[in-house]
Amino acid sequence: MTAIQDQIKALTERLHHLNYQYYQKDISEVPDQEFDQLLAELQHLEQQYPEFALPNSPTQRVGGTITKQFPTALHRYLMLSLGNTYSEADLREFDERVRRGLGGDEFTYVCELKFDGVAMSLTYTDGQLTQGVTRGDGTRGDVVTNNVRTIKNLPLYLRPAENQPAEFEARGEVFMPLPVFEELNKEREQNGEALLANPRNACSGALKLQDSALVAARRLRFFSYGFLSPNRGAFPTHSASLEALQSWGLPVSDSWRRCHSMQEVLDFIHEWEKKRFTLPVATDGIVIKVDNFRQQEVLGYTAKSPRWAIAYKYPAEAARTRLREVQYNVGRTGAVTPVAHLDPVPLAGTVVKRASVHNANQIAALDLRLGDMVFVEKGGEIIPKITGVDLTARPAGSLPISFPANCPACDTLLIRPAGEVHFRCPNERGCPPQLKARLEHYVSRKALNIDGLGAETVGRFFDLGLVTTPADIYDLPQRRDELVKLERMGEKSIQNLLAGIEASKQVPFDRVLFGLGIRYVGETVADKLAAHYRTVDALAATSATDLAAVPEVGGVIAESAAAWFQDDFNRQIMTRLQAAGVQMALTGEAPKAVSDRLVGLTFVLSGVFEDHSRDELQQLIEQHGGKVTGSISKKLSYLVAGDKMGPAKREKALELKVPIISENDLTAILSTPETIAEPDIFVSLPVTPLANEPVEPPTNPAPAAPSPATGGGAGQQGLLF
Ligand code: IVH
Repeated sequence: MTAIQDQIKALTERLHHLNYQYYQKDISEVPDQEFDQLLAELQHLEQQYPEFALPNSPTQRVGGTITKQFPTALHRYLMLSLGNTYSEADLREFDERVRRGLGGDEFTYVCELKFDGVAMSLTYTDGQLTQGVTRGDGTRGDVVTNNVRTIKNLPLYLRPAENQPAEFEARGEVFMPLPVFEELNKEREQNGEALLANPRNACSGALKLQDSALVAARRLRFFSYGFLSPNRGAFPTHSASLEALQSWGLPVSDSWRRCHSMQEVLDFIHEWEKKRFTLPVATDGIVIKVDNFRQQEVLGYTAKSPRWAIAYKYPAEAARTRLREVQYNVGRTGAVTPVAHLDPVPLAGTVVKRASVHNANQIAALDLRLGDMVFVEKGGEIIPKITGVDLTARPAGSLPISFPANCPACDTLLIRPAGEVHFRCPNERGCPPQLKARLEHYVSRKALNIDGLGAETVGRFFDLGLVTTPADIYDLPQRRDELVKLERMGEKSIQNLLAGIEASKQVPFDRVLFGLGIRYVGETVADKLAAHYRTVDALAATSATDLAAVPEVGGVIAESAAAWFQDDFNRQIMTRLQAAGVQMALTGEAPKAVSDRLVGLTFVLSGVFEDHSRDELQQLIEQHGGKVTGSISKKLSYLVAGDKMGPAKREKALELKVPIISENDLTAILSTPETIAEPDIFVSLPVTPLANEPVEPPTNPAPAAPSPATGGGAGQQGLLF
C-alpha cells in the first residue's frame, strides 16, 4: 500500500466515524469547519488518485445511515446536500461556473439564511399534510409524520388555492427556537439530566422520540425553503414558489432576497453576519440559489449536490482569551460541573466572561491549565465553550488543573457512577448547595410557585438556617417573630410570604411531586405518576418494577423515584408536607366516566399508535370504565397492539391466549353513535383562515378514525372545505 492509499483509507475511516457520530448519535466530535476540511482533503486526493478511492467513500454519500426506530420511505426526489464554502473567492468561482453553464444568459440568485436544524420533506396531498420524512441517507429517510404534526407553525391543512398542485413536497428545516432550547436545558440541569449540546441536536433528538406528545413539548418550528412537484410549470422561479408556499400557509422566513449580482450576494452575506444573532433560530450561513427553475435544470447536479446552489458558511464565532480560574458548581442533584472564568472578551454579540468545560474528561482532553490562553467558541451553542488551548502562549511552569476529589461545598468524597460523565457529591441531605437548589426548585414557578418566596428569599432563609427542606417552609408562619427581625422583611413582605405559603397548599399534587425534585422526575413524568397513582401513599408503596410499567416512565426514572420514596429522610418530609396541608393526592373525581361498556375489562397498551397517544388511549379506556395495566397476565382482557410492539409481549399474550386487538378495533368498539356525538366543532371552523395564519384543524376532540365497522364520523376534509 502506498502512503497515498494509507492516507485515503485513514481519512475515509475518520469521516465515516464522524458521520456516524453526527447523524446517528448526535455528537459533533469536531467543529463543522474541521469536518468540511477533512472532506475537502479526501475529495482532493480522490480526484488526483481515483484508482485509490474506496467504494463507499463519504465523498459519495449525502448523509448518514437510517435509524431503526421509524418506518422508512424512499424520497421521490433525492434529498441532496449543498456544496459548502467558507471563502468569498469560492463564491466568485461558483458565480463564474454558473455564468459559463448558462452560456452567458442573464440570471438572478436568491439568498436565504441557512437554518441550523434538521432537513425535512413534507408531502401535501389535496392540501393536507400526509407525510414527513427526514433526510436519512438522501435516498431514503425516516417517516416521522406524527412527530412533525406537532410542529405548531406547520400547517396540517393548507389554504386552498388554484395554483396549488394536488400533490407536492415542501422541503425545509425543522428547528428548536433558541429560547426553547435554553429553557429545556435549564430544566434538564434542574432534573440532573445531561445537557443538550446545541439546538440542532435537541431538535433531531426530539424528532426521534416515539411519543409525539413528548415531541410537542419540545416546541419545534419549521421554515420552508423548497418546493417540488412533478409539474412546477406554474412557478417559473424558486422565489415565486416561496411566495406561493407562503400564500398557502407554509412558514417561509421573510429573510430571503433576490440578488442580481455576486456583489449583492456578498452584501447580503455581510448584512446578516451579525444580524443573524438577533433571530430566535440558529443559523450557520447563507444559501445561494439560482432562482429560475429552468436554469437550475440546465446547470444540473453533481453526484451529491446541485450545481445551481452553494452554501456559504460563516466561520464559527471564536475568541482568544485568558483562563483565570476554574470553579466547581454543585447542582441540585449533586452533579459537579467545572465553570471556566475568563478575561472578558467580546464574542458573537455578547461579552463572554465564563465558559463551560462540561466535565473532568474535557479538562484532561484539552490539557487545560490555569493562565492558559484559550479559544472560546459559540458556534451553535448558547453557552460558549472552550475548544482549545494556544500552546504557544502557555505560561512557564503552569500546572494541570486537577478535578477536586472532594465536594467543593461540603468536602464529601465525590463519586462517579458507572456510565456517567459527571462526578457527584453523594451527600444529598447535608450538602448546602444541593439543599438550597432543591428549595429553589420547590418554590419555582412550575412547581409550588410560592408568591413572596422567590429563589433569592428562600436562599437567604437557607443561609440563615430558617429552612433546610421544603417541609420547613410550612413552619415559617409559626416563626413570625424571627422573620420580623430580618432586614428587608417588612410587615407587607411577611404578609405576602405567609399568604403565598398558604396558597401553595392548593397547588395540585402533580406539581408538588415535580417540586420534590426527585431526580429524572420532570413535569411530564410527575404528571403521569400523579394521574396514575393519584395519591402519594399509593405512589410511595409501588415498586420500581411496577412504576416502570407506567407509560413514559422508563427503568431509570422508576428506580430513582422508588429509591426516593423508600428513603426515611424523604418520607419524613412527605409526612410533614401532608400534615401541613400540602396536596399529596389528586383531588376531585378521576376523569369522568363516559360509559360503562369497558367495566371489568383490563387492557395493556403496547407499541406506538397511529391516531392517539398512549395517554389518550388510556384515558379513553378509563372513561369507559376499563383499566389499563402494565403487565400481561392470564386475567388480562385485551392487549392493544400498536406499531413496533415488543415481540416478548406478543409471545406472552399468545401463550396466555389473551386476545390482541388494534387501536382501530378499540375505537370501533367505543365510537358508536350513542356514546360519541358527532363533533360539531368542525362545522363552526372558519373556512377562510386569516392571512398568514396556518390553518389548524380543531385540536380537540380528535375524532376516532371513521371505522368501517361502525361507519361513525365523517372524514375531516369534507367538513373543512
Ligand atoms: S436548500 C439541494 N436552503 O442545509 C439542497 N438548505 O446541505 C437543498 N438548509 O440539509 C437545500 N437552510 O437542511 C436549503 N435555506 C436553505 C437551508 C438549507 C438550511 C440545510 C438543509 C440541508 C443543508 C444543506
